Amino acid sequence: FLAQMGPDALLCMILRKPPGQRTGDDLEIIYDELVHIKALSHLSNTVKRELASVLIFESHAKAGTVLFNQGEEGTSWYIIQKGSVNVVIYGKGVVCTLHEGDDFGKLALVTDSPRAASIVLREDNCHFLRVDKEDFNRILRDVEANTVRLKEHEQAVLVLEKSPRASSLGNIRYTVLSGTPEKILDHFLETMRMDTHHSDPDDFVLMHCVFMPNSQFCQLLMAQYPFSLSHSQERLEYAVTCKRRVLNLALRWAAVHTHHLQEEPAALIFLEELYGSVSNDSRILRALKDFVPDLEKVVKLQYVKLTSNLHGDLNPIILKKVLTQFSNGDEKLVKTQPIRNCDDILLKVYCSDHTYTTIRVAVAATGSEVTSAVADKLASNDDLLLVHLSSAGEKQMLKPNDVSVFSSLSINGRMFACPRDQLNALTPLPDQEGPSAGSMSSFELMSSKDLAYQMTLYDWELFSCVHELLYHTFGRQSFRRTTANLDLFLRRFNQVQLWVVTEVCLCGQLSKRVQLLKKFIKIAAHCREFKNLNSFFAIIMGMSNPAVSRLTQTWEKLPSKFKKFYAEFESMMDPSRNHRAYRLTVTKIEPPIIPFMPLLLKDMTFSHEGNKTFIDNMVNFEKMRVIANTIRAVRQCRSQPFNPEVCQPNKNHAEVRGYVRKLCVIDKQRTLTTLSYRLEPRRT
Ligand code: CMP
Repeated sequence: FLAQMGPDALLCMILRKPPGQRTGDDLEIIYDELVHIKALSHLSNTVKRELASVLIFESHAKAGTVLFNQGEEGTSWYIIQKGSVNVVIYGKGVVCTLHEGDDFGKLALVTDSPRAASIVLREDNCHFLRVDKEDFNRILRDVEANTVRLKEHEQAVLVLEKSPRASSLGNIRYTVLSGTPEKILDHFLETMRMDTHHSDPDDFVLMHCVFMPNSQFCQLLMAQYPFSLSHSQERLEYAVTCKRRVLNLALRWAAVHTHHLQEEPAALIFLEELYGSVSNDSRILRALKDFVPDLEKVVKLQYVKLTSNLHGDLNPIILKKVLTQFSNGDEKLVKTQPIRNCDDILLKVYCSDHTYTTIRVAVAATGSEVTSAVADKLASNDDLLLVHLSSAGEKQMLKPNDVSVFSSLSINGRMFACPRDQLNALTPLPDQEGPSAGSMSSFELMSSKDLAYQMTLYDWELFSCVHELLYHTFGRQSFRRTTANLDLFLRRFNQVQLWVVTEVCLCGQLSKRVQLLKKFIKIAAHCREFKNLNSFFAIIMGMSNPAVSRLTQTWEKLPSKFKKFYAEFESMMDPSRNHRAYRLTVTKIEPPIIPFMPLLLKDMTFSHEGNKTFIDNMVNFEKMRVIANTIRAVRQCRSQPFNPEVCQPNKNHAEVRGYVRKLCVIDKQRTLTTLSYRLEPRRT
């Protein structure tokens, strides 16, 4: 009888036997079959032999049979031995078709999550080889392929890679390598754990604006929040799980983007809608109750922020704050709220004859918006060019489509507008030179600790408003968003650095200069105590500016105790081994910290420029993860409030505060060098 059977029929018969009853010959026949299956080609022969003893044959007669549904628990892995199936996703329909030799159902097993799709027979009489979860875990988990690729309509949509780090449960983990924005979002929702805190969804929440605008994010999240609740118990449970995940992600997202939400009408509408739905649902579904208060808090907070900016009841639009931060010279002294795109700014724009006009434009205004505001004010018909003129007379043309043009002005730089034929005649204003006398007489009377403290308070104001790292790294033009808060903070770094150089170079008396160096070293030491590494570095970098470091007579007179401090501080700036000295210091201190910002930006720019954002039309999520880590590091720095009790306000507190916020500097290196040579001529 056996001899009369065809090879297929024989195999079928063997596969139908319960695994325990298979003989050695049976296993050999199954093994010979497995060798030719595409889905197993990456597995070793030993693994294939093991599989031969556990594979179960499963066949279905009718097209349209549902093998399993999306959202169900995954219990087995399947290989198609004959026939084909459709992969169906709610809201998308058939996303792909799998044929003989393909496999499916692995995702739920390796990620411990519900089925990501339903599987429906595409033709009558399909045969499958099935491996149940326990066997799969025992035999395949550890040898499983390093990557899983999912396709929709012949296009790859998600690539997962086995992570060297095991999950908290000791299971192997798959992390997202790349994927389409939508599929990555779906995947994070599907695999989200409510109990543990997984950083992957946070990476998504932090980075999504690079590849998915807020409005789309809100729309997709809303689409994943099932509206009609089915009556079948199992479907209902799945729907509740989906809702809980959406709510969880929405809350994380709102917490991360608190500062930008107000400027995004789509985001506010989404949060309100979600809040409405969940309040409604939670009356019947107890499992959603715990989200109501949290979401209410978020919605109320945004509402308060919005109304605190309202112009009475008459004008229900966000009141624009008017800023003068960049209006040169008269910087606003207190900064408590981030500068927003929709705020207005008063901008002084100079003409070639050194007269100026003050215009009021939106923070996000482009170069051409600024020039047309100037032309309006001057009632001029000329085509005006917008130029950033540095104190050294260098001209930088600002492009008509540059966003928020004012925010990258250099310390003593000014904005000029002129017709093209006057471009060559532009000369810096006399006040761009900076001060001609030092201010030592006023600040030598202030204690170094008070100075450091007030500098730190100011840095905190600036640092806590910085939420634009991504816009800076990926280019604010493409987001059409200002990076003014970050630019102000970076500007402050330069200003403090130049303050040190300016004061030293304007100090004609040798003994006074020695006093100055001592003072700056003391201020730096206090900044470090206050964990203000930004100003700490600014001061040390100021002291290592060639115009200061070449003053050997001054340095010689510095007491050795101070020399030692300075040497130690300088060693922290050592850039070797990727700024290892600094990085080690930072890991040893607890927040609140004001980090050395230029280095963080360098890290982000490096990761950005060295890696593509998209690979084969999919988001390179590895890159997103790396950049998200830096952003998280920044957020970690300010996860604790700076405690202003540390220093008791003393009598001249207002004076110190006023002084540190209005540092006048020379920003032209040539001038500083000339002054330095005048103090201590080159030795012959
Ligand atoms: P699992 O989530 O266990 O169950 C459904 C299976 O469909 C899934 O594993 C994948 O193996 C398979 N599948 C194929 N293409 C896709 C896709 N584009 N999205 C989700 N699942 C897919």
